[in-house]
Amino acid sequence: MVVNAVERKIEQYISELDDQYVSKLYRNLPHGKRLRTKLILKIAGSSLKVVKTAATVEMIHAASLLHDDVIDDANTRRGKVSVNVSEGNKTAIMMGDILYSKAFFELNSISPLVARVISNAVVQLSLGELADVQLSKVFHTNRDAYLKMLYQKTASLMEASAESAAILVGKNRNAYRQYGHNLGLAFQMIDDILDITEDSKTLGKPALHDFVEGKVTLPYIYLYEKLAQEDRVFLISLHRKHLSKEEAGWIKAAMKKYGIIEKSYLEAKVLVDEAIELMESLGEKDLSNIAKAMIERKF
Ligand code: FPP
Ligand code: MG
Repeated sequence: MVVNAVERKIEQYISELDDQYVSKLYRNLPHGKRLRTKLILKIAGSSLKVVKTAATVEMIHAASLLHDDVIDDANTRRGKVSVNVSEGNKTAIMMGDILYSKAFFELNSISPLVARVISNAVVQLSLGELADVQLSKVFHTNRDAYLKMLYQKTASLMEASAESAAILVGKNRNAYRQYGHNLGLAFQMIDDILDITEDSKTLGKPALHDFVEGKVTLPYIYLYEKLAQEDRVFLISLHRKHLSKEEAGWIKAAMKKYGIIEKSYLEAKVLVDEAIELMESLGEKDLSNIAKAMIERKF
């Protein structure tokens, strides 16, 4: 499998750091779905430059999650105890910095244009994380601000991955950029839905946790719009609070009553369908299948 070539490239980059502790920390990190790698390889094949690009993107993504778990004060990541808990915040931050800076060092020797595209996405990623923190402080119903944050935090790196892959093999960078953009946005929208519909075991992280963390995701914004005044007040009273069984049940029942999950899901599906259509028009069957699988995922 070519995905293995990317894993080996990351391992090589890590071993070049010549630090036993860093190697151990990396070995213990759960790998996740490697969605960005799959996109890059499907678009651009598996030349050395492509494998290197995927490796740097995965390292940047892993770094961002290490930092994100510190920022979110998370206890788990992909079903495992997160590094901020097992090793402490300082180690999680430094491990993120190490992965991130090594990735940038390597990126420089791939292609100046790819380095520009990816580094610009990381600027967006960081702005998005900051916006996420700001938007989570108080209850809001600002859909535009929320969508901008989603784009920056999640879609930007997928967009840059697809665009970079296209650049490396001389394909139409704008089309693949659009594909990555739609897929990234839909990915995070689905994530927000799964937080409400799935249980902790399936998710590998606490369920119904976004609102507790302060994240007023699209389903909550849409729910608020539908609720009567007293229910709105009740919903706001639950924001950033640990939910009792009854309160969690109330949220789920209200989401169901107003068809909020279907509405949110349809919004993600419009983006995915556009991505599918675009890829089918380019004869990229595998890429349209990735988009289809994403909308059907449970975790
Ligand atoms: C997860 O969001 C977070 C991200 C996708 C991006 C995090 C970005 C940064 C910390 C800034 C960039 C930093 C570096 C070092 C590149 P989430 O909390 O909504 O999702 P989760 O449920 O997976 O935690
Ligand atoms: Mg998080």
